Amino acid sequence: MDHFLYRDGVLHAEDVPVAEIAAAVGTPFYCYSTATLTRHYRLFDEALAGLDHLVCYAMKANSNQAVLTLLGGLGAGMDVVSGGEYARARAAGVPGERIVFSGVGKTRAEMRTALEGGIRQFNVESEPEMEALNEVALSLGTVAPITVRVNPDVDAKTHAKIATGKSENKFGIPIARAREVYAHAALLPGLRVVGIDVHIGSQLTDLEPFRLAYRKVAELTTALRADGHDITRLDLGGGLGIPYERSNTAPPLPVEYGAMVREELGDLGVEVEIEPGRLIAGNAGILVSQVIYVKSGEGRDFLILDAAMNDLIRPAMYEAHHDIVPLIEPAAGVEYAPYDIVGPVCESGDTFAKARQMPPLKSGDLVAFRSAGAYGAVMSSEYNTRPMIPEVLVDKDKFAVIRARPTFDEMINRDTIPVWL
Ligand code: LLP
Repeated sequence: MDHFLYRDGVLHAEDVPVAEIAAAVGTPFYCYSTATLTRHYRLFDEALAGLDHLVCYAMKANSNQAVLTLLGGLGAGMDVVSGGEYARARAAGVPGERIVFSGVGKTRAEMRTALEGGIRQFNVESEPEMEALNEVALSLGTVAPITVRVNPDVDAKTHAKIATGKSENKFGIPIARAREVYAHAALLPGLRVVGIDVHIGSQLTDLEPFRLAYRKVAELTTALRADGHDITRLDLGGGLGIPYERSNTAPPLPVEYGAMVREELGDLGVEVEIEPGRLIAGNAGILVSQVIYVKSGEGRDFLILDAAMNDLIRPAMYEAHHDIVPLIEPAAGVEYAPYDIVGPVCESGDTFAKARQMPPLKSGDLVAFRSAGAYGAVMSSEYNTRPMIPEVLVDKDKFAVIRARPTFDEMINRDTIPVWL
């Protein structure tokens, strides 16, 4: 459930008519709902009730400082994957003991920053990384808490570009080698093993792959404990999917996911961490855009919007579906017709949807892409020198711009011209 609903035929973000925000900030823009972000974080927190747990929001999904401040304030930890994300989390007031550092290629500089600033744990993904972290920790006279990310060789049954738990993927160490790698870690005085990490992919719409992976992690926990390692914490990754198409069957709910976690891991006496990103932020955001032209082509009609692939790259990159709805609710019985919905960028890949059934729309009308709160703004670029679009946060009947649209001068002045030119 989200808080973008039609009221009296007009799309609202919580209690604010979305068109009112469009009039104030101009299109295109992202709009997020405080109530939805809050609700989704709490759903996970409550789903794990009874287990010692921490929900570490995967901030790669949406790392606006206002979003981080909101979630951090609710008690969320953060899953970071770069020095930049670590800096953002800290700037939003999240203490180091609630930050986990994931990622397959952490640099020594990033390790140093996190060790100096405070960190809950590093999720280490290879032996070379383990050795580097050991050296950095020793050079700072400290000990780095670690888990090792294991690759359970499980098919997450999701888009190939966001599946991470098969042996051909670059992530983690093969689970079959785990005991050997943990034995290696135990010999390194700059490291302290605290647990195991696993993440098998994103936008999973079935619990079974999670269950298979967690079962393997449970077996490994027992084996590693028998080897003498102190396994007190399991990081179970993120990945629970969201319903992008209202017409489709909905993926499992956090409460069902939580019940499965309890079934598979509840008896191990461990602290559980999860790293949801998409499910917290995805349906908490929309992308609002204006129709520039309606163009009749040969055998098809185009809706040309002022948003483009640089603003929301998911359709171009993953063939992702986003529901696109007009801000004015279509009258009952109105006739829908197929449109190719495109942006103004000079590539055919700048297509949001093909032959999408839409109600009648004309130049100047406003539309909203649903489920755009995760992996939307964070993956945007200034391709075609199109400014990064504003982000707006709504809370009941008020709204605020939480990232402003840069001016052309600001964009141009980021470049410098060498003296010899
Ligand atoms: N933990 C780790 C280690 C991850 O790599 C990811 C996502 C997550 C947690 C959060 O997964 P989530 O709960 O959001 O599914 N840009 C793609 C998604 C990439 C996901 C990458 N890793 C998209 O737009 O679909």
